[in-house]
Parts: sequence; structure tokens; C-alpha cells
Amino acid sequence: MIRSVIVGTGSALPARRVSNAELAETVDTTDEWIVERTGIRFRHIAAPDETTATLAADACRAALGAAGLAAQDIDLIVLATATPDQTFPSSATKVQASLGINDCVAFDVAAVCSGFLYALQVADSMIRAGSARRALVIGSETFSRILDWEDRTTCVLFGDGAGAVVLEGQDNGDAGAEGRGILSTRLHADGRHNELLYVDGGPSTTGTVGKVRMKGREVFRHAVVNLAGVMTETLAACSLSAEDVDWVVPHQANARILDATARKLGLSPDKVVVTVDQHANTSAASVPLALDTAVKDGRIKRGDLIVLEAMGGGFTWGAAVVRF
Ligand code: COA
Repeated sequence: MIRSVIVGTGSALPARRVSNAELAETVDTTDEWIVERTGIRFRHIAAPDETTATLAADACRAALGAAGLAAQDIDLIVLATATPDQTFPSSATKVQASLGINDCVAFDVAAVCSGFLYALQVADSMIRAGSARRALVIGSETFSRILDWEDRTTCVLFGDGAGAVVLEGQDNGDAGAEGRGILSTRLHADGRHNELLYVDGGPSTTGTVGKVRMKGREVFRHAVVNLAGVMTETLAACSLSAEDVDWVVPHQANARILDATARKLGLSPDKVVVTVDQHANTSAASVPLALDTAVKDGRIKRGDLIVLEAMGGGFTWGAAVVRF
């Protein structure tokens, strides 16, 4: 039986790191408010020459290096983003060109903050169906470009960055839950909640890019219920439960959402990878960025059972259970 195994992780951040105190010089906010309500202390903000595609390509180079593979070994690129370099062509094709791969499948996926989970399931399905062998799955965003810097209820929450994994199809026989690879994934969407988290522009409506708009308190309420639900569902799909989990790698929107979700599942906060303090909410990039951080610092080790989860605009949400 073919399984998609994560054989390398990588990430990239813009050079400029902005503290809450620096933001408070231009936005009507304080370090205390941001830390208390969100847990965020820093975010990285892209310079004009740092784009979703350049950050993604840097994250891919790091992931390929960690996997010990060359760009030519890749036959599929799936890039999750809500902030592409251009309306078209896809940023995935820009990454492909930057890596020097002249012929492979490459496309973008739009599911906002859960984009990486969507991209992961698509790539996993294609690998298991035999249409790809090695895939780069990327989350990359430059949300700073679509923030209204005069709206303090949103602009303090987001940051820029990219994360990537290399997925490889490996024949794991009947290794069961102990065998490496993606054990189960579950995705959801409920389009009735568009007005709670959206961008007020687009090519087919205003002809502009638009800015992020959010009713934060309502998003918060849905997030905890949906995330706890999809994690339980995804673990149950491979006959596992919260006690089996070594690490949860959540979407990094707000430290209070992470705490509340862990509590709902009866999971110790020590098992939750938290990077929101350093990166803020990087939308589709946040899960692979947090994963790479915890792999690099030695927390997540080969053989660990990890759960990736995210929720975002749409609403969309999903989870993946992976034997790392
Ligand atoms: N600095 C200072 N004060 C701020 C502020 C800021 N950056 N942003 C909002 N406030 C004020 C509000 O104006 C409000 O003041 P008021 O009571 O005088 O009207 C007060 O703080 C409380 O605002 P509220 O929105 O109720 O705060 P909250 O505790 O719900 O926290 C969020 C706001 C956005 C941090 C929180 O709701 C959240 O994280 N939601 C989920 C967002 C999310 O995760 N989105 C992405 C999902 S992918």
C-alpha cells in the first residue's frame, strides 16, 4: 500500500521582523492588548522584492535540502495561498520556474488559512492514485499586502512567511498506524460564513485586490468547535484518539484558540506546537512553518504521531494525522 511520507520540511521568513511596540507607533494599539488577547509578540513583514512565490521557493529549497533530494526529483507542486503574486498564472508555476523544474504538475489551491491542509490532501490523493511520486506541498502568504493598516482589529494579527514539505510515495505494506506517512485527512467547508472573514475585493467583483475584513469574536467561537471536531474525526478515521498524539501542529491564529482547542480535546498544552508569538497568523503558511520549526528544534522526531489542523475563511477547516 502506498503512503505519502513527509521526507523533508522547510520554511522561509521575510528579513524584517516587527514587534508589537513598533506596530503601536503607527496603529492605535498596545503590546499589552495584543499579547493578552492573541499571544502574538512579533510578525515578519515582506519587503517589496519578497513575494509569496519567492518565499515559497526558498521554503522549497530548504525542504528539498532536508529531504536530500534535487528539484528534478519533484513531479508535483501544490501551493496553498490567498495572496498569489499575480491573479494568474499560479504562484506554483513561478516556484517551479525558480527551482528550474521544466515539466511537472503545478497549481495553486485557495482555502485561505486551511489551504495547507487542502493542498496536503490533494497531493496525498494524487500520490496514492499513482499520478505523482514526489510532491512539494507549500503554504505561502504575504498577507501584509491585503491588510488595512488603519484597522487595528485585523492588522495586528497577521504576518508573512512560507513553509513547505516534500511528500514521497512509499510502499509501507500493511504497517498500520505505526508505519510512516499520512494516516488520514479530513476537510470541510461551510460557505454560509463568508461575511465573517473575507477580502472586500477581487478580480470578478471590484477589479481590485481588496483588504481583509473579519468579525473576530464570531470566528473565534466557530474555530474552537470546528477544530476540536475535525481533529477527533480525523483521529477516529485511523482508529486513534487524543491520547495517542505526540504533537499537535495547529494553525497559528491566536494562542487562546490553541489553548481552548487543546482543553476541549483533553490534550496537554505541552503537546501543542506554538509559534504564533513569533510569526503571528501567516494563514496557509502557518502549519508548515510551525511544523518546520518544531522539526528543526528537535521537538518532533521521526516516528512521532502528529496532528495538523487549520481553519480559515469560507469557512474551511481540516486536519491530517501523520506518522512523521
Ligand atoms: N488594540 C487595542 N484594542 C483593540 C484592538 C487592538 N489591536 N483591536 C480591537 N480592540 C478593542 C476593540 O475595539 C474592543 O473595544 P470596545 O470594547 O471598546 O469596543 C475591544 O478591544 C475588544 O474587542 P473584541 O473584538 O471583542 O476582542 P476579542 O477579545 O474578541 O479579541 C480577536 C479580538 C480578534 C483577537 C479575537 O476575537 C480573535 O482572535 N478571533 C479569532 C480571529 C482569528 O483567529 N482569525 C483568523 C482565523 S483563520
